[in-house]
Amino acid sequence: MLVRNVVCFLLVALAVGSATPNIFSLVKEVNDLADFESRVSNNIDEDADLDVPELITKYKYPLEIHEVTTEDGYILQLHRIPHGRDRHTAPRPDRPLALVVHGLTLSSSVFIDTGPGNGLGYILAESGFDVWLANTRGNMYSRRHRRLNPDSLLSNDYWDFSWEEVGTFDLPATIDYILKNTKRSRLHYIGYSQGTTAFFVMGAMKPEYNDKIISSHHLAPTVIMEHTDNLLLKALAPLTGSVSTITSLLGIGEFIPNTEILRMAGQAACNDDAFTQPLCSNIFFLIGGWNSDQLNTTTLPIIVSHTPAGASVKQVLHYGQEIGKPNFRRYDHGIIKNLLKYGSRIPPNYDLRKVTSRVYLYYGANDPLVSVTDVFALNDQLPNVGGMFRVPMDEFTHIDFAFGINAPTLVYEPMISRILKEDAV
Ligand SMILES: *[C@@H]1O[C@H](CO)[C@@H](O)[C@H](O)[C@H]1NC(C)=O
Repeated sequence: MLVRNVVCFLLVALAVGSATPNIFSLVKEVNDLADFESRVSNNIDEDADLDVPELITKYKYPLEIHEVTTEDGYILQLHRIPHGRDRHTAPRPDRPLALVVHGLTLSSSVFIDTGPGNGLGYILAESGFDVWLANTRGNMYSRRHRRLNPDSLLSNDYWDFSWEEVGTFDLPATIDYILKNTKRSRLHYIGYSQGTTAFFVMGAMKPEYNDKIISSHHLAPTVIMEHTDNLLLKALAPLTGSVSTITSLLGIGEFIPNTEILRMAGQAACNDDAFTQPLCSNIFFLIGGWNSDQLNTTTLPIIVSHTPAGASVKQVLHYGQEIGKPNFRRYDHGIIKNLLKYGSRIPPNYDLRKVTSRVYLYYGANDPLVSVTDVFALNDQLPNVGGMFRVPMDEFTHIDFAFGINAPTLVYEPMISRILKEDAV
């Protein structure tokens, strides 16, 4: 336990070292105040204490909780917002379906944390979608298994997965569940960060799932990561094979879980009155990194109480292995295990040519995790790209796709009109 905390601390410290100072300059014009009030958080502390289903219910949106079991026994929780609160309020069987998938160490909370006026989950519902927010294995809503115990001190088996398993087990099970439940044959997919990575794994490893996708939309695609600039991941990159051995020897399978203590510390350190708020925003975005003017720091206590939501060490390591390499590759277990598992000394690439469904890519010019060069390289390898879009704001960075004050107008609205066009075809 001690070892694990020390390692977590070191990882956090590494990430914080890479962050830049915070600037508070948040101005937004508010025209209709009454309307606005129901669209932002009316009580930051209260919201920080609520989980995703409680928050959605508090803001008077319809909510359903669903449970999906994957072929390998992981039990996943899905949060569904079947229709809007202010617009598109009647349930209708022919609504466009959107499956929305979060990033590494995150959960469905990232699509609702910033409130009804800003959160992608709410905005989709108001735009007429039947919205399904996924939670991938290992996060606080999906930290369950038919047989394996995530808290076992004897075995690390529960945590023996990277994002390959998210793509080959979690996404297929989730998609099949949604299609069966709604009696539909295809849906739209929206992925953020790791949500994009897992999608391309699925398309390459289980190409039959391409037929179940009308279109997919990738916010900050972390797929080819040759030019990624992140101190934490770069530090891990050369260690890969040996680190995974070390972590399994030490029994560290889980990467910074969402604990009560962390939640309380986060809320206290991150509120508007705390002098530690700038530091806090750095710590909690260790993966997404980098503060941004687009971040509404008032809402930080809500975001950090839900983040990090839990992940495996192996997920983080698999990203580390991608850095500096031009290919999108399977997990590197070290030579011996690679030979046993893949029949080759180095892991094979995922075949991106097999991702035949219609793909849209969205990137920010200031995203250190997703370099523009790598997005272009990804575009070149994919057979069916409908469009590649640079967010029209030079400063736009990784976390802004989830929390950016202007994300609705810069990203979500144009994306939604593209999806509705695809849906009509
Ligand atoms: C930031 O969030 C708070 C609380 O939700 C809200 O009152 C405020 O208007 C937001 N600021 C901006 C610039 O969106």
